[in-house]
This record gives sequence, structure tokens and C-alpha cells, in this order.
Amino acid sequence: MNMGLKLKQRFVLLAVVVIMALVILYILAGRSSAHGRDKTWFQWKQQKDENTALSSNLLLDGLMLDKRPSGRNHVQKGGLPGFEPIDFTADLGGRSPWTIAASWVSSRHIYPEDAEELGGILQKMATAEITHADVGYKGTQLKALLVLNGHQKAVFKPKRYPREYIIEGKPYDGYDRHNAEIAAFHLDRLLGFRRAPLVVGRKVDLRTEIMPVGSDRLMSTFLTQGNDTCFYGKCYYCKETEPACADGEVMEGSVTLWLPSNWSLKGRQRHPWGRTYRNDKQARWEYDDTYCNSVKQTPPYNSGPRLLDILDAAIFDYLIANADRHHYETFEKDGDKGMLLLLDNAKSFGNPNHDERTILAPIYQCCKLRSTTWERMKLLTGDRLSQLLRKSLANDPIAPVLTDAHLAAIDRRLLTAIDMVQGCIDENGRDNVLVDDSRHH
Ligand SMILES: *[C@@H]1O[C@H](CO)[C@@H](O)[C@H](O)[C@H]1NC(C)=O
Ligand SMILES: *[C@@H]1O[C@H](CO)[C@@H](O)[C@H](O)[C@H]1NC(C)=O
Repeated sequence: MNMGLKLKQRFVLLAVVVIMALVILYILAGRSSAHGRDKTWFQWKQQKDENTALSSNLLLDGLMLDKRPSGRNHVQKGGLPGFEPIDFTADLGGRSPWTIAASWVSSRHIYPEDAEELGGILQKMATAEITHADVGYKGTQLKALLVLNGHQKAVFKPKRYPREYIIEGKPYDGYDRHNAEIAAFHLDRLLGFRRAPLVVGRKVDLRTEIMPVGSDRLMSTFLTQGNDTCFYGKCYYCKETEPACADGEVMEGSVTLWLPSNWSLKGRQRHPWGRTYRNDKQARWEYDDTYCNSVKQTPPYNSGPRLLDILDAAIFDYLIANADRHHYETFEKDGDKGMLLLLDNAKSFGNPNHDERTILAPIYQCCKLRSTTWERMKLLTGDRLSQLLRKSLANDPIAPVLTDAHLAAIDRRLLTAIDMVQGCIDENGRDNVLVDDSRHH
């Protein structure tokens, strides 16, 4: 009898313990799924996107709901600043193009919204006499340093691939793409960022334009292959066996305008979402979905525009498929308030058939974005972004700059990015996601 009662008591005790354990497990599971929410949502999104193609009409209908009427009118008139095509014949009124461009630079923008002379300056970059040519200043990729008539420095990146060539492999593989550098500059303008230096395409006659003014260092890397003149320059990956070759003696490339020398750059800063470039080691953002919380507490990301600049850059880099922004640069002036400069965009537009979603990690881990960027993205849906980019690039001296496949990829990636931000808004509320910092600049 005593034994029986003891057994009963034991049974009741056991039942209580089991129930308590189940309750605790349930609570813990709820917590951890809340922590893993971003990732889970993202994976679900990925699945959904792979299974069902996004209906852009449906998306546009949804977007119209919170679209500001003024924005819609702007687009219908095609009058939004930065959306009008670049006029390569723009008159500079006899002024030096380099002086105008230098006067434009501020700590938040490289040129103003109403940069009427922009096309005229690009035209000069593509045609001005080259007075000196040297090996690139530093870095891993082959380039040449040019001085244009009027003491203006510029960087020349040679063509390495035909337009249709598709880079397979890692998202940061391959040589620099000169056409990507050009397209990225135009896209930066269309997105309203104006944080990329001026870039234009140029066909350079190596025999008449470079050889008479080339430094010994540069000229010592010249060689010929068949009938083509080539050079391999000086850089980390530069090899005599892998030169860039002209078509005969005419070499196509991109010319990037050097920033004014009195705007000194703060040394390379580590991008918080940089890659490790190693197979055996993951960066923290790759396994820790709460990573943004610690970034947000670390200067310069805990206040001011820097984190928002990182998020803008994530949108930009996702559209151009640049997975190589391991470091970034800012101006010394105005310290942490200065813009994240969108320099070195040539590792983009490698594979139009691949969308590297991890480039958006800052977006899906932080769930934040400038409201101005968001509005701009929504104005560019449908195939508006590719249409505007195509038009903008049409007058470049080496047009067509991008293949149709790359233009289509940009429209497709824009929808994915919009869908991701919309998901953040649906989940966290508009006010917790979109940041209006227009008053600060
Ligand atoms: C080089 O040019 C010559 C004369 O134009 C031509 O006959 C020859 O086939 C060319 N060689 C190559 C390798 O293209
Ligand atoms: C560089 O010089 C220009 C023209 O003199 C000036 O307007 C600008 O403020 C200077 N920039 C810096 C960072 O001092």
C-alpha cells in the first residue's frame, strides 16, 4: 500500500517534470526561431523566388499603394534629376573640364544633381590629349595611369574580355571589366547616389597616344602578340604571360577621372560584410544572422550616415553583381559624415545568369534602408531601370557597353531587392525599416 502510494507520487512527479520540460523546450524553440527569423525568412524567400517567377505587375500594383504622387508624376514626365540622358555635347563655356569637375566634389556627392556639363566633361575624358602614361599606382589589377592635357590624372583600365564573355566561378573571379566600370558609374547616377567618380569609355591608339609619352616602367611591359600591341603593366597579379592586348594598336578601355588631390582619402577601411576569400573560413556575417546588431553598436556605424551608405552600396553592388567590396574609402574631410565612395566597380557584370544574393546580406540582416533609395528603386521597376541605363550608356564612345543579358539581369535583381526590403517593411513596419536622413545633407 505504502509502496503503491509512493509509485503514484513518483508518477505524478515525473509527469510534472515532463510537462515542465516540454514547456521550457517550447519557449526556447520560440526564442531561437525569433533569432533565426531573418535567415528563415530569407531562405523561404529564396525558395519562393526559385519556384515562382515574380509577377512584376502584381508587385507594381502593391507598390503604387505607398508611392508618393509627386514621385509618380516625375516619372511620367521623365523629369527626375539623374534620369535624363547625358548630353556628351554639353558646352563647357570655355572653362577647363577638370576645374568644373573638381569644384563639384563635396563630402556627400561627387557631382551635383543638375550637372549640366557632365557629358561635356566625359567627352573631354574620352578625347583629351594624353600627356603622360605610367603603370598603375597600386592594386591587384592591370591598369595604366594617364595624365590628360591640363594636368588631370585618370586611370585607364584595358578591355580584357569581349562583351558576351561570361565569368564563371567565384563571384569575384576574373580580370577587371572596363565596361562594368562604365556601367556602374551610370547606374550610380540613376540611383541618385552620385558617389562613383566619372568614368567614360575610350579607344586609345597605343602607338600614337601612349608610346611617345609612356614612362620607361610602362613601356618595358609592352610586347606584341601576332599583329596586336599588348602590355602587362605592374600590379599584384600582372604577368608577362597575361597581357592586355589591343586590337592591332587600338586598345579599348575605361577612363576614370582621378578625384581632386586636395580631397585626401582616408585609408582603406574594412567593409563589415567583406568576404574572407578563403574556402576554409567564413566571415562572421556568413553564419551569424544577428551580426548587424553588433555592427550597429560599433563606430562609425552606430551614428551618422555610414551604415546607410553601406546599405545603399549593398543595393548598388547587388544590381551590378559586385561581390568584391572588401574595403571601402571615404574622404578625410568631414570624417564619419563623408560618403562611402563607390570606387573600383570593375569586378561587376561578370555573369548575367547569376544573382549573388549574399551581396544583400547587410539588407536582410539589418532590415534598414534610406527612404530616398527605396523610393528611387520603386520608380525604376518594370524595365525602367534597364531602359534608362541603356539610354544613358548609348552615347558612350564604346557603346554598346552592356549586353542585353546584363541589362535584363539588372531589372530582375532590382525586383529581388525590392521584394526583400518590402518583406522587411511587412514584418517590422515601415518606420522601423526606412530612414529619412535627407535633412542631414
Ligand atoms: C597581320 O597583318 C598582316 C597584314 O595586314 C596580315 O596579312 C596577317 O594575316 C596578320 N596576322 C595576324 C596573326 O593577324
Ligand atoms: C579643395 O579645393 C577646392 C577649390 O579650391 C575647395 O573648394 C575645396 O573645399 C577643397 N577641398 C578640401 C577638402 O579642402
